[in-house]
Amino acid sequence: MRKKIAAGNWKMNKTQSEAIELAGAIADVVIPDNTMVILGVPAVFISDVQTAVEGSAVQIAAQNCHQELSGAYTGEISASMLQSMGVEFVILGHSERREYFGESDELLAKKTNTALSQGLKVIFCCGEALPVREAGKHIDFVKNQLEKGLFHLGADDLDSIIIAYEPIWAIGTGVTASDEQAQEMHEAIRSMIEAKYDIETAAKMHILYGGSVKPSNATELFAQPDVDGGLVGGASLKASDFAAIIKA
Ligand code: 13P
Repeated sequence: MRKKIAAGNWKMNKTQSEAIELAGAIADVVIPDNTMVILGVPAVFISDVQTAVEGSAVQIAAQNCHQELSGAYTGEISASMLQSMGVEFVILGHSERREYFGESDELLAKKTNTALSQGLKVIFCCGEALPVREAGKHIDFVKNQLEKGLFHLGADDLDSIIIAYEPIWAIGTGVTASDEQAQEMHEAIRSMIEAKYDIETAAKMHILYGGSVKPSNATELFAQPDVDGGLVGGASLKASDFAAIIKA
């Protein structure tokens, strides 16, 4: 039985005091038994947020890491640094990283390997832009992203992967994928994993939906059989909204 996951992605938001306040408020939320809560926080606040959520079940994700473990890469953060701080997860392949920082599928495959080598778990994002969906090519597009970024891994490594399907047209737009659109893609992703690996691996995989998840749509989205929770941007920045999504 897969757990439900409520993951927040704060992106480049909050000051230090705001981050501590928000994390503290989330740490006070009563987390349902079958649910995991993950906060994807800016790297500079990881330590503060760890302190703020101490004693709760809230886990921490970084929003990116470099493909190399160390070296002359000014301004970058390595998987080994995150590991040394006790960070559990790293988000890789977000469409904003792909688009604004030119991250390719090949680079993301390398980053994934590096993160796994340090014992980090990876929240691996995929998802199509609107023209791709309008052309009816969304499933093929996501399949290609997963084949290039993830499917070089062995089945054992997939235990350390969470997939987040985030259609770009739904991110920060207020337009959410319908329950049917989300379920269609999540079911397709699970079938891809079954075809590439096996039915057990597919059944175990957590697949999150991201893109304008709000308290008002979370319950229905998360009720879809192949939707195991959400990766939430805007609504994770307000404690009361994210608390409602955790309950959903
Ligand atoms: P929004 O929830 O703000 O649409 O962002 C989704 C997202 O990109 C999470 O990674």
